[in-house]
Amino acid sequence: MADSKPLFSLDGDPVAAEALLRDVFGIVVDEVIRKGTSASEKCHYSIKKGAAFLGLGTDSVWIVKTDERGKMMPEDLERQISLAEAEGSVPFLVSATSGTTVLGAFDPLEAIADVCQRHGLWLHVDAAWGGSVLLSQTHRHLLDGIQRADSVAWNPHKLLAAGLQCSALLLRDTSNLLRRCHGSQASYLFQQDKFYDVALDTGDKVVQCGRRVDCLKLWLMWKAQGGQGLERRVDRAFALAWYLVEELKKREGFELVIEPEFVNVCFWFVPPSLRGKQENPDYGERLAKVAPVLKERMVKEGSMMIGYQPHGTRGNFFRMVVANPALTRADMDFLLNELERLGQDL
Ligand SMILES: Cc1ncc(COP(=O)(O)O)c(C=O)c1O
Repeated sequence: MADSKPLFSLDGDPVAAEALLRDVFGIVVDEVIRKGTSASEKCHYSIKKGAAFLGLGTDSVWIVKTDERGKMMPEDLERQISLAEAEGSVPFLVSATSGTTVLGAFDPLEAIADVCQRHGLWLHVDAAWGGSVLLSQTHRHLLDGIQRADSVAWNPHKLLAAGLQCSALLLRDTSNLLRRCHGSQASYLFQQDKFYDVALDTGDKVVQCGRRVDCLKLWLMWKAQGGQGLERRVDRAFALAWYLVEELKKREGFELVIEPEFVNVCFWFVPPSLRGKQENPDYGERLAKVAPVLKERMVKEGSMMIGYQPHGTRGNFFRMVVANPALTRADMDFLLNELERLGQDL
């Protein structure tokens, strides 16, 4: 959307602004799960890794608080920017997330874009996981505000199930920023005197050299399924996830971590020996030991593979990500039955 102030507006000079990005000169702001008094970080690790690779150092990533649903809090973002500036840092980029890895949270992009606009910061949206939701008329509101981003990362290899890997980086910029940042003009590879418009060549715009053509997979899949076919895939994933949630609530021994707004269904399996013992001081500790045991059992049986993890102050819980388009309600029933079977003696 045209009202978002891009990085170039920092000083009105695109070349200087780009140099600012490339020089080691600023901070990256990302999100964290922080609950109660003990703070534990759970943002996607790629942001810190990126800061390390860029030479900014991981200390230049400032952590913004999230609410109990895992969404970035715009008021804390504002606060972190002020704190960073007060100590002489120069904030330049905010990384928001649409569809966090564990809880599947969508950050409030409109409010975050307002903060970025006020401070002249580049807004990046990590929509690697949740970006495909834009294809659904029913659920796309979760990404309201993404049109104000300066850059968006999107992985059709996640929710759309394109063959690994299929990643897109979408940029608002139309001034060939990637070539100006990454281009190394190796004349033995990237000849400029070709018979067609060399602006179409992507090779010199990227960090790597030889890579697969990700976009062909997306194009072919889109051609084969059509926009409506892909929309159905997304809507079906939501419907199945919510079926799982409804079924899970009907059974004793399953406890939701949060009501999902996406297809990440996060839950504990509470085994018979722990039911009704929530008040016991060691309840959390004992519950956290259940998921690894069940995971081991399901892998050894060869019946299922469901991921688990601790998250912030929450001990190990299962995260069923309903994305495979071949899944059915019968699979969701099987999952619950199988957990009950595998955990009945715990
Ligand atoms: C929110 C988010 N961002 C980024 C990534 C990294 O994805 P990839 O390495 O597949 O590009 C993931 C992977 O799980 C993710 O969940």
